Amino acid sequence: MQKLIWAPIDLSKPSLRILDSAAANGKWIEDVRKSLSAEVQETSTFISTDVTDIFFPKPEPTGISYFAQSMLEDWPESLVGTLDLVHQRLALPAANKAQVQSTISRFIGLLKPGGYIQFVEADHSIAKGPAMTDFFRLLSEIFKVMETGNDYAPQLKRWFEDAGLEDVQEKVFDIPIGAANENADIGKKGALMFSYGVRGLVDVAKTLPTSFSKEELVSLEDRMREENLTSGGVWRLHCVWGRRPVVES
Ligand SMILES: C[S@@+](CC[C@H](N)C(=O)[O-])C[C@H]1O[C@@H](n2cnc3c(N)ncnc32)[C@H](O)[C@@H]1O
Repeated sequence: MQKLIWAPIDLSKPSLRILDSAAANGKWIEDVRKSLSAEVQETSTFISTDVTDIFFPKPEPTGISYFAQSMLEDWPESLVGTLDLVHQRLALPAANKAQVQSTISRFIGLLKPGGYIQFVEADHSIAKGPAMTDFFRLLSEIFKVMETGNDYAPQLKRWFEDAGLEDVQEKVFDIPIGAANENADIGKKGALMFSYGVRGLVDVAKTLPTSFSKEELVSLEDRMREENLTSGGVWRLHCVWGRRPVVES
C-alpha cells in the first residue's frame, strides 16, 4: 500500500495521539512510530488495542501502550474526543451487519474535531485462480453463518460519509501475491501468509455447515500454495479515510 498512513495528517507535529484497533501484534503502530522524528516519537501517544492480549509483543516496545478492548464495546471515557488518528485494518467483520455502523460511530467519537479515521479492508469478490476463488467463497460462507459481511470493503466509503465524516477518500490496491509479485521474496512471503491463514479457516469450516466437501476443505491449503507460487494471485484492499468535522451539524 506504499504508505502506512494515507490520511493527510501533519506527522511532523509533536504530541500526536494515534490508536490502532484490532492490532494483533501491533506491528503497524511500531512501524508508524519508527517512521516519525525523534521529537514526535517522544511527545506523542501511541495506543495498540485488540480484543485479546495474546498477540501483544513481549516485552512491549517502549513508547506504545497496549490494552485489551473490543471494538464492539464502549471505549474508555478518557479516550473519547482525544485522538488525531484512529486506524484499523482487516478486522471490521468482527462487527456483524447489525453492529457495523454503530461500531464505526464509536470509533469516530474517539477523534478530536479535525481528527482522522483510516480503515483498510479486503474485497473478497476479486480473485484470480480457482483455489483463491474457493478460499474467498469459504470465507463468505463462514461470514454468512456469523451474520457478518464479506462485502464491507466497498461499503466503507459510504459508511464513513453517512456517519458525517468530511473529505472521505478511498484508494484501492491490488496486491500481487506469490508469482504475480515482481519481488520474488515478498511474493513468496505473501503466498505463505495466505496458506497459514487458510489453515485456521478450514478448522473453523469443519465445524460449520458449508457447501465444501471434506476433500475440498482438506486440499485447500495445498491448492492455494501451489496456485499462488506458480501462477500468482491478487488481494484487493480498500483503504478509506475521512475527517471528523471541526464544527458538527
Ligand atoms: C486479521 S487480524 C488483523 C490484525 C492487524 N490489524 C493486521 O492488519 O495485521 C484481525 C484481528 O482482529 C481482532 N479482533 C477480532 N474481534 C475483535 C473485536 N471485537 N474487537 C477488537 N479486535 C478484534 C483479532 O484478535 C485479530 O487480531
